[in-house]
Amino acid sequence: MKTVRLSIIGFGAVGQGVARAILSKKEMLTGQGIDLCVVGISDSKGSEINVRGIDLKSALERKKQKGTVATGNESALDIIGNVEHEIVVEATPTNIKNGEPGFSNMSAAFNSGKHVVTSNKGPLALCFSQLKEAAEDNGVFFRYEATVGGAVPIFNLIHESLAGNRVIGIEGILNGTTNYILTRMAEERLPYDLVLKEAQELGIAETDPTYDVEGVDSACKLVIIANSVFGEAASYRDVDVTGITKITPEALELASRNNYVVKLICEAGNGTLTVAPRLVPKKHPLAVGGTMNVASILTDLAGKITISGKGAGSIETASSILSDIMYIVRNS
Ligand code: HSE
Repeated sequence: MKTVRLSIIGFGAVGQGVARAILSKKEMLTGQGIDLCVVGISDSKGSEINVRGIDLKSALERKKQKGTVATGNESALDIIGNVEHEIVVEATPTNIKNGEPGFSNMSAAFNSGKHVVTSNKGPLALCFSQLKEAAEDNGVFFRYEATVGGAVPIFNLIHESLAGNRVIGIEGILNGTTNYILTRMAEERLPYDLVLKEAQELGIAETDPTYDVEGVDSACKLVIIANSVFGEAASYRDVDVTGITKITPEALELASRNNYVVKLICEAGNGTLTVAPRLVPKKHPLAVGGTMNVASILTDLAGKITISGKGAGSIETASSILSDIMYIVRNS
């Protein structure tokens, strides 16, 4: 049995989803000779450390009852720097102003020789190449499938299954919250404020939901794609962004009467990065509804490949995190 020790830094919807996924997959993982042992969890109020392995059920229960996992005052950086383990799961909220605390957490992990698996978009949208170099310099893995598309394996598809292809362009819907809002407003004629609240209750909206509705979250994801897929040293500031806040119910109705839907579309290709609401024919492959994400990847050999799935959500995002953890376990 290979025991791999992890910390979960950030215990909101995503961090808790990771804990639940590890619990529910215990038998499957044991069958593959893998024992995932969580030795540290931190949230904004404190942390729990147990070098013999945290009882994840109690940690989840405590979080539910008390709003925090904390049994002690150690910080995330204390766990990353001082507790022996192999993989840091960095799941703190996205901050597009300075990437913190994610950037410092990831840097500390690399500098102490730990692999990083993350769902946190801010640090990657601001300093992708710096983080990638830090991982390479320290000989550790840097995996970020969960940052784009939730459960949809965009990076694995491109880097593994489509290896050998040149990616010419990518277009798609990369934000579940806005897609949910636009779908509910168009199909049920519900007001914007109500459906935004629903999205927050579903746990799919960002901690600061203006990141969703103003297109910031989509832009971050596009920047991560530009860096990872196109090798561009792009940053958040390079994206031309328009959100959905000015889309009126009347505009959605008019579109629908003409057999179109309005979608917040991300486009990368020809060195340009754009996020903007677009009219999409109702039967078009990009016209997916609800919290779904979709990406059409145009390649030189394979032509166009379109992939869609749940783009947000606690357990869906944990799916990508778990697959990155397993990649590291199998390849290290
Ligand atoms: N707020 C994001 C979304 C979460 O709605 O897509 C997943 O990145």
